[in-house]
Order: sequence, then structure tokens, then C-alpha cells
Amino acid sequence: MRILGIETSCDETAIGVVEDGRKLLSSVVSSQVELHARYGGIVPEVASRQHVLAMLPIYRQALERAGVAARDLDAIAVTRGPGLAGSLLVGLNFAKGLALALGLPLVGVNHLEGHVYAQWLEAGADPADQPGFPLVILLVSGGHTEILLMEEHGRYKLLGMTRDDSAGEAFDKAARELGLGFPGGPEIQRVAAGVPVTERFTSPMLRDGTLDFSFSGLKTALLHRARAAQRAPVPALAAGFQRAVVDVLVAKALDAVERNNARGLLVGGGVAANALLREEARRRCPVPVFIPRPALCTDNGSMIAAAAFFMLQAGLPPPNVILDTDATPNLRLG
Ligand code: KG4
Ligand code: ZN
Repeated sequence: MRILGIETSCDETAIGVVEDGRKLLSSVVSSQVELHARYGGIVPEVASRQHVLAMLPIYRQALERAGVAARDLDAIAVTRGPGLAGSLLVGLNFAKGLALALGLPLVGVNHLEGHVYAQWLEAGADPADQPGFPLVILLVSGGHTEILLMEEHGRYKLLGMTRDDSAGEAFDKAARELGLGFPGGPEIQRVAAGVPVTERFTSPMLRDGTLDFSFSGLKTALLHRARAAQRAPVPALAAGFQRAVVDVLVAKALDAVERNNARGLLVGGGVAANALLREEARRRCPVPVFIPRPALCTDNGSMIAAAAFFMLQAGLPPPNVILDTDATPNLRLG
């Protein structure tokens, strides 16, 4: 079964084609990052307009790279939330038009579930490579930071979440404070690479017994140190900040694994592209750790197509929902 997945929840116009939920045929991502960089963050109206411009060329490229014609598709999948309302609507309306014109089912996908299923694109055909349940999910993106327990395909329990900023937001705001570019995560990682941690920051809520997070205090601590008269060099501040974020993410994920006797840990979302986080999770976790390659951690359409395959296998969604599928900007998982 070939599914075309469309992702426009934020600032990437992305379309991918996936066969049977696991085989990546193409993944084309058009990032708007240059467009928003001058504002230091995403401007929703600019994002929506850019999605409109990019959609058709990206669609054509995704089919071409996959070596597939539109008539060879079996379903259209699209992110229906969470995300920016205007951006979601562009993808959703394009998807509805396609589904109606091609006579195909439309599957509305939760973006966060897409980040989870990015891992199945790595798993290959061998079931032994695939994560077993129960599986702890550390979901770290620009919009979300959550720990979930995935009990089986499509069934999630929310175990903990951030009380303020997401981990991605923390990276983005820290980078801005340090005069680095946007998005901040890759920039912090770049300047911190190979720099020893001499500037120590306290990881927030590290030992509070919950699986929740809070990053706004850490951001303020960085701000004070970055503005101090005797400020440490930017690479030292970036390295210390990155370490504090990664330490608390990994500690809480491991705690969740232990408390739930999980068979594995899956790390997903844009921040899962972070090299230190990947390394520390793998080094410290006693059960198998699954992290998609960095290009599949950040937003892409193939993860939406992969998630849709498993939804269809589970008998979701009911047929004839094309015109009823709506954008849900605050959609939740678990
Ligand atoms: O999942 P994603 O692509 O978009 C959302 O769904 O929000 O995540 C984007 C976030 C941004 O905040 C970005 O700074 C962060 O992921 N990010 C990283 C890295 N690459 C992207 N954070 C830390 N290290 C990275 N290498
Ligand atoms: Zn995302």
C-alpha cells in the first residue's frame, strides 16, 4: 500500500511517499527557515502563504523521486494537528482536493504520532528490528516536550509533559540570547561541539519525582549569565545549557522506562536530532533505544504517511470522512 503524506503544521512544507508503512520511497522537505530567520521565530501568516507557494512543486517532486504516479497511490495522509491553524489548513485543503480528485481515502494524522512512526521507517522489514511494547516515548519538538507510554499501535498514555517551554523552544530562545541563528537547536549543538562543560547549569526538576519538565527557569539562568559583565564565552554557555537540557530529558525518560517496565525507549521530534541527546540516551538506557536518523526526526511528510498506514491497519479512520476532517491546532496524544 502506497501512501502520500503531507506535513504543513509549522514551517516546513513536506511531502513523502511510503510503501506499507516502512519503506521510504521519497521525502521532500522545503524549509522556510531563511524566510523566518530575520524575525528570530516563525511568523504564522508568512508560513501559511509560503506553504501555498511550495505545495504543488513539492508534491510533484515527491512523486517523481518516488518513481510513482498519482494513480499508483492508495491513500492520502495529512497532518491535522497540532500546529499553526493557517499552516495546517493549507496542507489539509490540498490533501482533501487530492483525495477527492483521485478517489482515495484521506487519513488525518496527529503530528506527534507522525514523530513516533518516523522510527518505523528505520525498522526495515525485519520485525525483530521493530520496537516492542510497552514503549516509552520521549517526544521532544519545537512545540512539545512529553513522555508517553505507547502500549500498542495507536494507544498512548501521557506520563509527563513540560509545564512551560518545550525543549526545542528552550534551545531556540537560548540561541537567540547568545546571538546565534534560528532554529537554535542545531546552532547550539554546532558551537558546543567538542567544548568541555565548564559552565554548569542546574537541570530543572531533575529530582522532583515527576515526569514533568520546566525549561523557562533554565532559560532565565542562561540570560543572566549571558548578560553578566564577566560573561563566559558563547561556546561554554551553549555547552553548559545543552548539557543541562539533555541531562533532565534523559533522566526522566529512564525513570519512565523503569517505572513502566518498558521494553524500549523511542526518542522522536526535532530535538531528537541532537547529537548529545542521542549519545546519552543510548549510553545510559538499559533497554533498546530507538531514534530515527536526524532527517526523519525533524518535520517531514514520510512520517505522516507511515503513521497513516498503521492507522489504516487498525481500521481507522472510518471511510468517507474527507470533507469532515478538520484542522485541530491543539490536538493531543494520549
Ligand atoms: O519537530 P520539529 O521539526 O518541529 C516541531 O514539530 O516543532 O522540531 C523543531 C525543533 C526546533 O526547536 C529546533 O531548534 C529543534 O527542533 N532542533 C534541535 C536540533 N535540530 C532541531 N534541537 C537540538 N539539537 C538539534 N540538533
Ligand atoms: Zn514536529
